[in-house]
Amino acid sequence: MTPIAIPPLTKDLVRVLIDADTIQRRVDELARQINKSYKGIEKPLILVGVLKGSFIFLADLCRRLTVPHMVDFISLSSYADSSEITGNVRLIMDARENIENRDVMIVEDILDSGFTLDYLCRNFTARNPASLKTAVLLDKPERRRIDVKLDYWGFQIPDVWVVGYGLDYAERYRTLPYIAEMVPVEG
Ligand code: IMP
Ligand code: MG
Repeated sequence: MTPIAIPPLTKDLVRVLIDADTIQRRVDELARQINKSYKGIEKPLILVGVLKGSFIFLADLCRRLTVPHMVDFISLSSYADSSEITGNVRLIMDARENIENRDVMIVEDILDSGFTLDYLCRNFTARNPASLKTAVLLDKPERRRIDVKLDYWGFQIPDVWVVGYGLDYAERYRTLPYIAEMVPVEG
């Protein structure tokens, strides 16, 4: 396979916060932990990726799983098209699988205020899964407004806007292989 090119920083990308190799090593570790925890499960674990930000993390994570699993997606909206917190979470597209009596893992890109994951955990718990766990790549603990249970997390980061590896700013930079801090440049 052709190695993934590492695009250079642009002027609004301030610095690389987590490089591509470091991300891949951490995803390896998370997959190892998940493989250990779910060893021997009978029905496939349902991984529910929260669109769009989790799609790359989920793709890398699920391809390292040796336990039976399947992939589903859900789409929510919390921030209109800006980075301001409203705490207003809306379901845009529901998961397709019936999760009753199934082992479920919500896969998110980043835990910020916590409103999104809190909403999802409450919504999914009401559907009576056999178990419900959460996996997020990034955690910004300083920004937390509501307490949520995190089972697997990749990295704790400071309170800065980050892009890459699935995360965007107004739909830009999602496909960078690294996580970069971003400060929008005017004009
Ligand atoms: P929460 O509901 O405040 O925890 O927000 C979580 C959602 O906000 C994430 O799923 C992301 O889509 C988005 N988000 C929060 N911080 C960032 C960031 O630094 N970069 C990109 N998206 C972010
Ligand atoms: Mg998200």
